[in-house]
Amino acid sequence: MVGFGVVGKGVATILARRYAEKVKGYGFNPKVVAIADIDGTVVNPRGFKPEKLEAIKQRGYPISADPDFGHPGMSALEVIDSVEAEVVVEVTPVNIKDAEPALSHITRAFKTGKHIVTTNKGPLALAMPALTELADYNNVYLRFSGTVGGGTPMLEFAKRCLAGDKILAIKGILNGTTNYILTEMSQNRVAFQKALKNAQNLGYAEREPSMDIDGFDTACKVVILANWILNKKITLKDVSRTGIRNVSLQALDKASKRGNTIKLIGSINGEGATVKPTEIPKNNALCVSGVLNAVTFFTEFAGEQTLVGRGAGGMETASAVLRDLLDIRHKLASKVFT
Ligand SMILES: NC(=O)c1ccc[n+]([C@@H]2O[C@H](COP(=O)([O-])OP(=O)(O)OC[C@H]3O[C@@H](n4cnc5c(N)ncnc54)[C@H](OP(=O)(O)O)[C@@H]3O)[C@@H](O)[C@H]2O)c1
Repeated sequence: MVGFGVVGKGVATILARRYAEKVKGYGFNPKVVAIADIDGTVVNPRGFKPEKLEAIKQRGYPISADPDFGHPGMSALEVIDSVEAEVVVEVTPVNIKDAEPALSHITRAFKTGKHIVTTNKGPLALAMPALTELADYNNVYLRFSGTVGGGTPMLEFAKRCLAGDKILAIKGILNGTTNYILTEMSQNRVAFQKALKNAQNLGYAEREPSMDIDGFDTACKVVILANWILNKKITLKDVSRTGIRNVSLQALDKASKRGNTIKLIGSINGEGATVKPTEIPKNNALCVSGVLNAVTFFTEFAGEQTLVGRGAGGMETASAVLRDLLDIRHKLASKVFT
């Protein structure tokens, strides 16, 4: 595991809490053999016991200071090169300038024959077509269900449940922070700056909120949906993007008089990929409030299918990592590379 923050620790908690269940229910017996964060690593080729993972997680000092298994200064790349493992779980912070350090972790994992499960949108947003090709070339899997919808299985729903139908277009509220701000503005008549402050105080928005409010986060998710579901080989630069900074209370009032409201909508259809504040009917299935996310798949035969859920959260996103690990295990068991 590379990165041991909110999501990484969540994965450790889920593995510890549900270890016996997983072994019994799925014949799934995962062993965490190494964890790397920015200071160094802990390595145990025999696999850490769940209680040891919990203990490492609870401590306040760097994981590499562990007296039994710590390697201060050992980098994630060194671990990926030297430790025997089937999968690398990449959960380092997002970076949409050059996707590092995650991009290097992912490509190194592929080159050493390891599958990747990641919740990090950066590498996918900037290089998804190349990364899926590299995974295929190296005969390994790249899974990333936590990148869109957090714990809500939006990618799996479209890929599996709608298999056999044709998805023609996708539209969604894919960012909880902007949805919270727009909900505050429309339902409580709070001005944009005040709503942003509230979101920051509640921990929904970063101190530097551009990633959310300028629509970058939604655009990253649009790229992932477009590649994975619609087979469109696009990257972040192909998404036309407008954030919510200029949405006014007056515009929301006018929309309201028409029975509508304004949401930050990411969409992909025959005309391209866009992110922009969009007027939608209040009674539309997509029109969810607060930090909720929602996505509608427009299909040829099954009509419109909308999925709603919490789009982030450490444990929710960690549950998506486990889902991906199980998926890889099933695939390996049946030895099908798709
Ligand atoms: N949290 C969520 O609800 C959520 C939801 C969906 C997706 N995600 C995505 O999941 C990823 C992880 O999120 P998070 O909330 O767990 O982030 P986080 O709490 O900031 O944790 C990131 C971890 O990565 C480590 N790290 C940073 N640079 C590193 C490097 N060069 N080598 C190895 N480790 C490094 C950090 O170490 P230090 O602590 O020592 O700096 C920390 O352990 C992000 O890409 C995020 O966008 C998160």
